[in-house]
Amino acid sequence: MRMAAKKKKTLGIMTGGGDCPGLNAVIRAVVKTALNDYGMDVIGFRDGYHGLVTGRAVRLRNDDVSGILARGGTILGTSNTHDPFRWAELNRGKLTYHDRSAKAAASCRRHKLSGLVIIGGDGTMASARKLSDMGLGIVGVPKTIDNDLAGTDKTFGFDTAVQTASDLIDKLRDTAQSHNRVMVVEVMGRYAGWLALTSGVAGGADVILLPEIPYDLAKIGEALKARARRGKRYSILVVAEGARPKGGTMTVARTEATSPDPIRLGGVGQALSGFIEKRFRLETRVTVLGHVQRGGSPLASDRVLCTRFGVKAAELAAAGTFGGMVALRGDDLIAVPLKQVAGKIRLVPEDHPLIAAARAVGTCFGD
Ligand code: F6P
Repeated sequence: MRMAAKKKKTLGIMTGGGDCPGLNAVIRAVVKTALNDYGMDVIGFRDGYHGLVTGRAVRLRNDDVSGILARGGTILGTSNTHDPFRWAELNRGKLTYHDRSAKAAASCRRHKLSGLVIIGGDGTMASARKLSDMGLGIVGVPKTIDNDLAGTDKTFGFDTAVQTASDLIDKLRDTAQSHNRVMVVEVMGRYAGWLALTSGVAGGADVILLPEIPYDLAKIGEALKARARRGKRYSILVVAEGARPKGGTMTVARTEATSPDPIRLGGVGQALSGFIEKRFRLETRVTVLGHVQRGGSPLASDRVLCTRFGVKAAELAAAGTFGGMVALRGDDLIAVPLKQVAGKIRLVPEDHPLIAAARAVGTCFGD
């Protein structure tokens, strides 16, 4: 049995960046552990850094986190377009940027926070590191369906997004088979191919295109035609939104000026489909899986990971161990210094065993 802290402490919590399955499971674990094991109070900030800077916060009690383990989304709300250090304001139709980190620090002082748990991806962690450098007691928790955060073997939400994508690939296979078509399936993942690789292998994709392995259209054509010669007149091509041709660039769908990373990828699937139809005369359809990959109830494996991450984050905060991000290393949880995480992304190494396994079963990577 742990001893309750002598002087009552208050812990803050917020979710930042794009949402992902399991955010609520982490919030629940942090809140329950902080309240019940360490006798702390917990304050949740609304809509990520927006709430931290503008001071929109709510007290969290056991009842608030009861029954949310399996719920997608985040009860606190989130934002991927607010950064305390580059705060966008509209002045006479023109966007101007300001450092509002002092306001974020003031919010923490106002609530007498002894620590703040920040759940987010790389953009969120980059700002978390700067807040930590200002002297705030920060503990990070690694979230993203992209699985691209440095310092951890895995982010939570990834497994569920992989399952969602591979379930949808299964459905697309049915209709691809019936019509003898090439189905191009564009999945998220930003600059990393983890989601495309893992869901592609799980879905038995014939071609998988990753940002890490620039593709050659001719090689894709050879693979599709070789299948046709073997009597397989349909194919499944899974393409990461960040995939690009050899010597070419990624396809940008839009820019979000106020976002820490303004680039929004998208459209490579449509472009590929056009090339395949024109050049190889194969009937093709495109499905962009999009934000459906970020929703839904977390899988059991994510619920377990989220619970472990959340408990560990609360333990670190209660012990006053700040400046790190909870991370999975093998089966263990460790705290990685935020400075080792901020500003870095984890890409799929070209010699990753899953790429080798996929090649062994005949998957083409377009190279
Ligand atoms: O980082 C998560 C993610 O879903 C990426 O896979 C995707 O590129 C991006 O966010 C989409 O962002 P938005 O929600 O702004 O469209």
